[in-house]
Amino acid sequence: MPNDERFIIDGLNLPTEQKFLTGKIAVSGAKNDALPAFASSLLFRDTLKLSNVPEISDITAMAKLLEVLGVKTEPKAGGRWELFSGKSPSATLEPDIAKHFRGSVILLGPVLARTGEVIFPHPGGCVIGERPIDLFLSGFQKMGAEIIESDHSYALRAPKGLHGAEIFFKHQTVTATETLMMAAVLAQGKTVLKNAAMEPEVVALGEFLIKAGAKIKGLGSSTIEITGRGGKLLSAAKLTRKIIPDRIEAGSFVILGALAGKNFTVTNLEPKHLESLTSLLLEMGIKLKIETSAITILERATTLKPINLRTHEYPGFPTDLQAPMAVLLTQATGRSAIFETIFEGRLGYLETLKLMGAQAWIHDPHQASLEGPTPLRAQEVTSPDLRAGLAYILAGTIARGKTVVHNGHYVDRGYAKIEAKLRGVGVTISKE
Ligand code: EPU
Repeated sequence: MPNDERFIIDGLNLPTEQKFLTGKIAVSGAKNDALPAFASSLLFRDTLKLSNVPEISDITAMAKLLEVLGVKTEPKAGGRWELFSGKSPSATLEPDIAKHFRGSVILLGPVLARTGEVIFPHPGGCVIGERPIDLFLSGFQKMGAEIIESDHSYALRAPKGLHGAEIFFKHQTVTATETLMMAAVLAQGKTVLKNAAMEPEVVALGEFLIKAGAKIKGLGSSTIEITGRGGKLLSAAKLTRKIIPDRIEAGSFVILGALAGKNFTVTNLEPKHLESLTSLLLEMGIKLKIETSAITILERATTLKPINLRTHEYPGFPTDLQAPMAVLLTQATGRSAIFETIFEGRLGYLETLKLMGAQAWIHDPHQASLEGPTPLRAQEVTSPDLRAGLAYILAGTIARGKTVVHNGHYVDRGYAKIEAKLRGVGVTISKE
């Protein structure tokens, strides 16, 4: 396979061998906070300074999209970036990048609000269900945009600017909430987003916009009210936006600790954002020490209780931790159930875990069950998406033998320096 990046993991062969992972592993800034932060640069009349930006390929893709729009993007040392949107950014998202990158949808609101137009291909990304954009389109339409759809692209036009609107989302959607909130900041009049997403990344975005002059109420609740500025740009002159810790990376590392850790500490995280995970781990019998910005797994439990796992919008259990958590469920004694409520088609990775020795049944596109404990054995596997790819790395870490994970580029989209971080706690992993 050309350009195939592979992770190769020499497994610990648990529970047969008495081996542990130990030490500290640090969490990077959140991909899903950094992406809207980059997009928000279009709302500012001056330079937006960011810190704690993760070194991942989704950020590189977002920076390229912004550059093509005319935004100056400058990486600095130590995860800092400076972004300046200039006087007249353009309106076309580079199709070759945007069509492979679902996160590009976050740009729609800022570009449309700033330029009166946005042209983009149907956005791609990881293979996790259909991922429609109907709620984006109907939201912008309510704010006064005209939609022109052709075979390969969409154009949204609002040459006289957007106006406020009442928008009810039939599903809570993270990126639609973020991008419509950003559009509403520059629109004329009041926008109310109902059944809005409550994820920490939505709150972090909104709180920074407020610091920079935006009027937003209701962050962290399901009704967000934005009073628009009628086109007047925000100012970030005296501000730096620090990207919040990545709760999905943090959760993935905590799960790794639960699988194989002893005095295993995940640092630089926000425990409040992980309560849905830590409450389940405690229910399974895992002993955790939870501190202000760290979680320690004192020792891998010898017997784990099975659980019912149901993904849910925040503060429920995140869909992005569903696949990593399933690896832990292969080690629980008895039958666990998984109910994926957010995306269809996000259970396919279980077929691969079965090849590695898991006993699993996919009942329909949303439900599966697992029976454990089953020792895992190494396999040559291909990652279908970012989170399943990480799950295979976790599985490979406890398996017997050498696991090869193809399509490593998916993992690089969202996990910064993953192999170096994992090596630091004792995983034998390399990338080719
Ligand atoms: N939906 C619609 N129509 C729309 C938009 C969404 O029906 O126009 C549906 C989706 O099909 C899904 C549900 O709404 O059933 C929720 O999806 P959401 O829109 O919230 O997902 P997203 O905004 O595209 C973000 C994260 C995802 C994460 C989901 C759910 C970013 C950049 N991406 O995606 O992260 O899984 O929220 O929490 O914030 C990842 O990081 O690996 C990842 C996929």
